[in-house]
Amino acid sequence: MLNIIIFGAPGSGKGTQSENLIRKYNLAHISTGDVLRAEMKNGTELGKLAEGYISKGQLVPDDVVIGMLANVLDSKKDASGVIFDGFPRTIAQGEALEKMLKERGQDISVVVSLEVDEPELIDRLIKRGQQSGRSDDNLETIKSRLDVYKNQTSPLKEHYKNTGKLASIKGVGTVEEIFGLIAEAVDKVK
Ligand code: AP5
Repeated sequence: MLNIIIFGAPGSGKGTQSENLIRKYNLAHISTGDVLRAEMKNGTELGKLAEGYISKGQLVPDDVVIGMLANVLDSKKDASGVIFDGFPRTIAQGEALEKMLKERGQDISVVVSLEVDEPELIDRLIKRGQQSGRSDDNLETIKSRLDVYKNQTSPLKEHYKNTGKLASIKGVGTVEEIFGLIAEAVDKVK
């Protein structure tokens, strides 16, 4: 099983590079952001709850997201591996993921962390907001998302560095150039 965490700040290219990973390695993709947006679109209870957090650029509570992830993971049990995009985002989520994988006789193969500086992230997200109208791509919410990343999510990097799983990759350049570096890191653990 090839289990890849694609990690990075909002706008660092996690979704974009996940598409390339799916194509090259034939893996299942779990994006907690996509799952939550689908729930919002369908007007479910979970969607209504998530909307309050997403619109402010805050994280949906750990217990909610961990429960959701467990269900989605079970639906991918026949896959040859999974790309975790946007999960984990807190130390508690990281611990929960390790436990869930262990219970299934699996482990994390590699954590690909895309490194992009803040002005570039803001620029990308503002542009995307203008084109796609994603409601959390406005300056105020983007700043809150970046703060949340800095304070609650980036500490996970130290944990993965200590376990030897972290592959830090410069996430600036063409999508193809960046994917070349990601594929090198993935091929080492395949
Ligand atoms: P989520 O949907 O995960 O959003 P995000 O982390 O903010 O990431 P983005 O989708 O904005 O960016 P990305 O890194 O995927 O970059 P992309 O490839 O799209 O989460 C949204 C919200 O849901 C959270 O704020 C939270 O509230 C909630 N949530 C989700 N998961 C949660 C969890 N685990 N726990 C709690 N709450 C959770 O690229 C961005 C743009 O840049 C695109 O326009 C793209 O075309 C462009 N681009 C990509 N690569 C390049 C490049 N190399 N050069 C130039 N432009 C590029």
